[in-house]
Amino acid sequence: MLTKKQTQVLDFIKLYMAKHSYAPSLDEIKKKFKLASVSTAHYYISKLQDAGFLNKEHNQPRAVSTVKAKQTVEIPILGAIAAGQPIEAIEIPDETITITRDEIGKQGKHYALRVQGSSMIDEGIFDGDIVVIRKQEVAENGQTVVAVIDDNQATLKKLYRENGKFRLQPANPTLFPIYRDEVEVRGVVVKIIRNLESQLDQGQSRDEKYVRKIDYSWDYRGEKTKSHTHGIHTYPAMFIPQVGRRLLETYSKEGDTICDIFCGSGSALVESRLIGRNAYGIDLNPLAIFLAKAKTTPINPQKLTKEYLALLDRVGKIKDNEIKRPDFKNIDFWFKDKVIVKLAKLKKAIREIKDETIQNFLMVAFSETVRYSSNTKTGEFKLVRVKGDKLEKHDPDVIGIFRKHAEKNIAGMTDFYKDAKKDSWTKIIYGDSSKDNGIKANSIDCIITSPPYGDSRTTVAYGQFSRLSAQWIDVFDDPNDASGVDNDLLGGRATKDLAHKLSSDYLKESLEKIAKQDEARAKDVLSFNLGLNECLKQAHRILKPKKYFCLVVGNRLVKQVRISTDFIIAELAEKIGFTCEDIIVRNIPGKRMPIKNSPTNIVGALEETMNKESIVVLRKN
Ligand SMILES: C[S@@+](CC[C@H](N)C(=O)[O-])C[C@H]1O[C@@H](n2cnc3c(N)ncnc32)[C@H](O)[C@@H]1O
Repeated sequence: MLTKKQTQVLDFIKLYMAKHSYAPSLDEIKKKFKLASVSTAHYYISKLQDAGFLNKEHNQPRAVSTVKAKQTVEIPILGAIAAGQPIEAIEIPDETITITRDEIGKQGKHYALRVQGSSMIDEGIFDGDIVVIRKQEVAENGQTVVAVIDDNQATLKKLYRENGKFRLQPANPTLFPIYRDEVEVRGVVVKIIRNLESQLDQGQSRDEKYVRKIDYSWDYRGEKTKSHTHGIHTYPAMFIPQVGRRLLETYSKEGDTICDIFCGSGSALVESRLIGRNAYGIDLNPLAIFLAKAKTTPINPQKLTKEYLALLDRVGKIKDNEIKRPDFKNIDFWFKDKVIVKLAKLKKAIREIKDETIQNFLMVAFSETVRYSSNTKTGEFKLVRVKGDKLEKHDPDVIGIFRKHAEKNIAGMTDFYKDAKKDSWTKIIYGDSSKDNGIKANSIDCIITSPPYGDSRTTVAYGQFSRLSAQWIDVFDDPNDASGVDNDLLGGRATKDLAHKLSSDYLKESLEKIAKQDEARAKDVLSFNLGLNECLKQAHRILKPKKYFCLVVGNRLVKQVRISTDFIIAELAEKIGFTCEDIIVRNIPGKRMPIKNSPTNIVGALEETMNKESIVVLRKN
């Protein structure tokens, strides 16, 4: 279906192409429609591509072309439907929407309604959306229906039959179900059309220096995030691949060289490789570097499978006296003795593989095995030991865990090997992004990154998360050094006092509020921002003029003070020589972020830190 604005954009592209024989650039579309940013222009292009009105092949500025329109159907919008308290069902057609036949199927009659209220948000239906309904009088259990109850009151709910009654279930945990003996079904939802366009240019009401734009199209709720090598090994606060890809497609082009200055496990680098960008990745956590390399190095899946099968064969034959027990502090606290023996045999068998890339790739599955067979609670980012009965009964099937992960990883690599662009490269640097890492000045076409949310001690402890794996897979000469990683990351060492020269009013205000309650926490926050400012300077150095730097950041809560990291970055960056072009707010639907963690650093103490993040789009002047 095309909305009014999408139709206007399509008409503009058609006219432009008729005149110039090539498509307008995103910037031209932005200017023509007075859009807030090129990412909004990109949004319209993607929508037109998804709906089949534009060709998809390149997804580059000027690389769009119109295609012959698919078979379309006009559907009347019959009014509003309450996704909250029922409202009177009045059907007065006010407008129509055009939809391609493929989107709703060939059968049945359809109508559309505008949604009011928030009772269906867990089903991805939001206030202002349009739902397309297939007319029918019966529905299956669990389907989302237009239900008319009482005296012609209509509502949008999930329908269940229970003990001779009907339950109309909201998809919002804060609301109660409605029970009725009789319900009239007027159709089932077959398509949801997000009302993004009104949200795209929506700003906040407060009189702020910068504007945050809420844009649900960046949520990617329910989408697959583990394709290719993305599913290999967990890592805290990973990029949603779709976010990385959309940023890359909007702000860079094929053949460009991009950089992720906090690359972590390498999600943006994987996407770069898949869409033909050369990429640098920088990180200061050795495990992250190890993972990013494994995820971005294509390996022939046949060779890989052959080595993997030979490895399984070998491991069973290794005797207890042939292994070397690793020697690091507290190993017996974190692993049971028989687990250590099994892990050591597995590691020996992996180390015997001659091809280093294959050895490293299988070592990643080993790292996952270390994590899942240790005595730690695997759902935590910090190292927390299981206790009591649970610990007593803990008897992990080490080889079984390894097989599960290795086979999943090989499947991911098979797809990556097939789809990775052969002439693109990825270079991964172990280094501190606040320093010069040898990347030439003015050489990078685009920087895409997600920095840490704050210091490791009170947010995500990347080093602690990585420690046991890092100690087993020998990424440190002395495995005991693994416990020092968090101190070296941004904000790892608190400042001596609160004096600073950073030019940010938002930071100043937050520091003052936090310091009133807890000076030590304010010093952590300052230290993080001092480090971040140095990283922004380095980013400015390596980026070409007029090119884009996108940061996906979280505005964390410290001592009940919400720190506007997005605005702070905008202020700091503008002092350095960037212009802040856009701040887009997205929801974090997955479980990739610790929405609840322990900022108080007391185990078990939970405090909400964030469930939204901002995408700050900077452009070098
Ligand atoms: C939010 S994570 C990035 C996750 C990544 N986008 C992914 O998909 O896996 C932030 C990363 O910043 C790294 N980091 C923290 N301080 C750093 C510094 N000074 N230099 C380089 N990397 C740093 C951490 O080790 C962590 O891997």
